[in-house]
Amino acid sequence: MLPVPRPNIEGIRPYKPGRPIEQVVRELGIKGPVIKLASNENPLGPSPRALSALRRAVSELHYYPEDSGYLLRTKLSAMFKVDLDSIILGNGSVEIIMMACLAYLEPGDELIMSDHSFLMARNGAAIMNARLVEVPTLEYAHDLEQILSAITPRTKIVYLDNPINPLGTIVTRDALNDFIAKVPEQVLVIIDEAYAEYITSRDYPKALDYYNQNKNVLILRTFSKIYGLAGLRIGYGFARPEIIGSLAKVRLPFNASRIGQDAAVAALDDKRHVVRSRQANDAGKEFLYRELKKLNKVFYLKSYANFVFINFAVDSQEIFEQLQNRGVITRTVKEYNFPNALRVSVGTLAENKRFMKALCEVVR
Ligand SMILES: Cc1ncc(COP(=O)(O)O)c(C=O)c1O
Repeated sequence: MLPVPRPNIEGIRPYKPGRPIEQVVRELGIKGPVIKLASNENPLGPSPRALSALRRAVSELHYYPEDSGYLLRTKLSAMFKVDLDSIILGNGSVEIIMMACLAYLEPGDELIMSDHSFLMARNGAAIMNARLVEVPTLEYAHDLEQILSAITPRTKIVYLDNPINPLGTIVTRDALNDFIAKVPEQVLVIIDEAYAEYITSRDYPKALDYYNQNKNVLILRTFSKIYGLAGLRIGYGFARPEIIGSLAKVRLPFNASRIGQDAAVAALDDKRHVVRSRQANDAGKEFLYRELKKLNKVFYLKSYANFVFINFAVDSQEIFEQLQNRGVITRTVKEYNFPNALRVSVGTLAENKRFMKALCEVVR
């Protein structure tokens, strides 16, 4: 006889990450370099400043981290002009999504999200035995009107990833301003801005305005994307101190690692690396759009993030495998209900060329 798990976790499909290079090499025995365009990492790697900080930090690994994350939070506080007690760190921003679910969702409460949004909040709702309300996207973007009309007195959380992963589209500043003004006060709106630093468009919302207006928002950012520190697992969130206080109650001690905090502080100082990464990403997207257009057989979306959503006329599993056999790891998005699509992270110019060459071979 086995211990009986809570019934509500039965249906959870554990998060399926992009396949690591080591695993693909091991399983397929591929010779030659394999490239990974599957997890929206920064192909330029971490900032050199973060690497120097890491080298200094490793000799102190026998010490636990500073639990409050004081230095990093102080830095973020000055940079974003947000009070120290309005900032929380996470073991990646995904952990903060989970903290919000733990802190706010009673069984039967509702969490609303788009049906194609990043999956973490869906699992958070299931773990808490909350009711997941999925709103269909409209033309590959969040449908804020429908999300608003789905809100009931039982709604505790609305989760909005902006840009939405895996589509890469955004809700605009005007649309989000209007939405936030209409959302009932008791609802916590999580605005997940994992890719914000890639975006320079004036249309992109200034989510901190909502925090400054004392709205019930939780704004999430991460060091996993443009800062190139995905392997260290460190993200952060901004919200009113009362909300941060509730999240802190369910936070595990020392959740943000010592080296993660040190590297993140140094990464924030390396503005050049951020600019270089953004420019490389913009150039990479332009290259991919140009080449994909030539292919004629595929549909793709213009993306505000560091990945491109590509839809084919056929099941994408075959295309995924054929690309993988050529040493290019991409990502199927079947768990997001797109059976024919791939999400491809923007790589270096050489990686993007390699991907396009392989894709041309496969599609033909
Ligand atoms: C919308 C969104 N939020 C959060 C994350 C994960 O971020 P982290 O590595 O900080 O947990 C991702 C990663 O793909 C994402 O796409």
